[in-house]
Amino acid sequence: MSIHIEAKQGDIADIVLLPGDPLRAKQIAENFLEDVKCYNQVRNMLGFTGTWNGMKVSVQGTGMGMPSISIYTEELVRDYGVKTLIRVGTCGGLQPDLGLYNLVLASAASTDSSMHKRRFRGMDYAPWADFGLLSAAYEAASKKNLPSRVGGVISTDTFYQHDPDEWKLWAENGILAVEMETSALYAIALRNKAKALALLTVSDSLVTGELTSSEEREKGMLAMVEVALEAAKK
Ligand code: ADE
Repeated sequence: MSIHIEAKQGDIADIVLLPGDPLRAKQIAENFLEDVKCYNQVRNMLGFTGTWNGMKVSVQGTGMGMPSISIYTEELVRDYGVKTLIRVGTCGGLQPDLGLYNLVLASAASTDSSMHKRRFRGMDYAPWADFGLLSAAYEAASKKNLPSRVGGVISTDTFYQHDPDEWKLWAENGILAVEMETSALYAIALRNKAKALALLTVSDSLVTGELTSSEEREKGMLAMVEVALEAAKK
């Protein structure tokens, strides 16, 4: 048991998929895994373990934002020895050629949070994805003909920005998309010698103002989970 996860040792797989929404974790477990067992209900942050094509896999909700994903991923790697962490989430597109439902594979994650600055005594730290997972996911997405892009994302602390044009600075400097968790996930994985990758479906575009419906988002999510599982298998 850890502070926020009530699983026993051995209940959680070495490979964990990480959606933000705990009900999404339930849905992924029900759609993709066999012999599913729920190992966590603390704070309703549901976690499940099952098998996919014979491979033991867990799915753990993380909540929104870097403080929340940090709690779950720290406990997964430190207390349960998890080795592979794959975030399956959504992002806001910052580039005009990035369409809704495109898949973003985050090779690195900048942030407007002070999280890394505090740890690195005012210096910048640029956390990155595991290259093996990244290349396997890219190959899996290409085989499925899913339009996908590899590049940097910005993990923001504030979904609602005071300055509505703030995202343009990141866009002008090549950042593909905005979300709220990956920079913390990568830093925690790197510090604990675990592998991490964030797969992000574009759910809205800050360039065009387009938005997806929750029903359509679900379809994008299912394709992305298949890519995550294929990448984890390698
Ligand atoms: N996740 C999905 N869309 C987002 C956005 N526009 N900003 C931050 N996180 C997001």
